[in-house]
Amino acid sequence: MSASETPHPLRDPAAKVRENAHAPYSNFKVGAAIRAKSGTVYVGCNVENVAYPEGTCAEAGAIAAMVAAGEKELIEAYVIADCPSPVPPCGGCRQKLKEFGATDVAVTLATTDGVEFKTTIGDLLPGAFDAGHMERS
Ligand code: THU
Repeated sequence: MSASETPHPLRDPAAKVRENAHAPYSNFKVGAAIRAKSGTVYVGCNVENVAYPEGTCAEAGAIAAMVAAGEKELIEAYVIADCPSPVPPCGGCRQKLKEFGATDVAVTLATTDGVEFKTTIGDLLPGAFDAGHMERS
């Protein structure tokens, strides 16, 4: 993003919630903001645990907040971390985004330095497993 461009509207909420991340084990704080179909923005940060597999990702937190509020469809997502290149969501989070967003939903991956990479849920998870694969069960 150049200085003259308007920042992505989800950047600020994602960057702010990232500061609340609980990441004492990895020291890698992640923030996520998603816009639901209603227009409401939900945020989440990673929450690690001393029992490492119990930690949760930023995207999972934002999705949980959306669902807890009674919404089931996201129309835009933004993920930010302090890393050399825009943070790629982990495999599990790609599947979680796919659960609640259409394949053409825009996902912006960002660094705290301001580098952004725009992609979509479909491009993040090609060949996704979905309910159609269970049709003969
Ligand atoms: N992390 C996320 O929050 N989202 C991702 O998609 C990538 C990884 C978190 C999990 C863990 O707390 C830390 O980053 C290092 O893996």
